[in-house]
Amino acid sequence: MNNFVFRNPTKLVFGKGQIAKLAELIPAGKKIMVTFGGGSVKANGIYDQVCRALEGKDYIEFWGIEPNPTVETLRKAIATGKEQGVDFLLAIGGGSVLDGTKLIASGMVYDGDAWDIVLKGRAEAAIPYASVMTLPATGSEMNSGAVISRTETKEKFAFYTSFPEFSILDPEATYSLPAHQVACALSDIYVHVMEQYMTTPGQSRAMDRWAEGLLQTVIEIAPRIKENQHDYEVMADFMLTATLALNGFIAMGVSQDWATHMIGHELTALHGITHGASLAIVLPGTLRTLRGQKRGKLLQYGQRVFGITEGGEDERIDKAIACTEEFFRSLGLSTRLPEEGIGEETVEEIRRRFNTAGVAHGEGRNVTGDVAAEILRSCM
Ligand code: NZQ
Ligand code: ZN
Repeated sequence: MNNFVFRNPTKLVFGKGQIAKLAELIPAGKKIMVTFGGGSVKANGIYDQVCRALEGKDYIEFWGIEPNPTVETLRKAIATGKEQGVDFLLAIGGGSVLDGTKLIASGMVYDGDAWDIVLKGRAEAAIPYASVMTLPATGSEMNSGAVISRTETKEKFAFYTSFPEFSILDPEATYSLPAHQVACALSDIYVHVMEQYMTTPGQSRAMDRWAEGLLQTVIEIAPRIKENQHDYEVMADFMLTATLALNGFIAMGVSQDWATHMIGHELTALHGITHGASLAIVLPGTLRTLRGQKRGKLLQYGQRVFGITEGGEDERIDKAIACTEEFFRSLGLSTRLPEEGIGEETVEEIRRRFNTAGVAHGEGRNVTGDVAAEILRSCM
């Protein structure tokens, strides 16, 4: 196990009716800016709950943070926040609203352009912020990361800042999610775990078992959510699994991959494809291409997650990768690039972008532009 320092200060407030606790969770005397997406919270009653909970507080609203939040929109929110003397932000929505709010919080105490912060990869300071999460997927509610897009250049990069002060997770908020968002969310959660698990074996028994448990939970709840999206207990597991998959708990002392995410972000930046949908295509390709370096872990994963024990090693690895792709298909997602109308031109563009930036992703620091292109070609 590698040395590590672990700290996660976010307070999780989980369960039915917890939005009513907002008033006591936000420190007194704050000038609050509440941030929203495109309006789903008005249709499902979350907006009304938030307004009731904030009665008597001093707040303004900022609407229109889009899926894959753009710096162009967030610059406007930063300007408004500065003008109005805002000193606390409250994000109401999915990962995009919260990620956008992380950039607003950081941009509020930065003199230059917000895109500088994204390019640096880390904000030096931020005003306090919190969230009411309505879409379990990104883990953004209990981590310090955010992914921001820039429309004019078709770029999408992650940066890090402070953690949310608190996040309220009410599983009933997920009842109104469209089926495609549920599928993309399950895919995102699954791949978050895989990025921190599918490397080399023998690093930590505790981390491995925890990751395998989360993968099995996702596989088990996926068909149940399809059957009944109003089953509180199932949706509660859905929500908690999303948080646990990316709040640092399964990453202690182990190496991590993240090449699938880096390639997926490019597909979203270039084609607008939903984040979780991009991962369902790329992950099987990453496993096919890097099966040599991930061999030991693929065998362990096949056995412990899918119960694959029969056959020679190569045959078992083939089966583990096929089961992974089949899981994404069972969610109703594409797993091949042509299904999304993506061809060779995009593969070449991503190869060029990675090679120009001189990056080498993955636990082996070997996913260069050329290897990314190989991964994508295996998804044709
Ligand atoms: O905008 P509104 O009207 O609110 O609608 C949203 C949006 O259209 C809707 N939605 C959210 N909650 C709903 C709902 N509709 C009905 N009922 C509800 N309860 O869903 C749509 C998608 O929302 P979005 O926030 O974009 O989805 P998600 O939470 O999957 O976030 C995706 C973004 O997070 C980034 C992704 O790259 C992408 O930009 N990620 C953030 C990470 C992090 N901060 O750690 C890690 C991830 O790997 C990921 O990259
Ligand atoms: Zn993700």
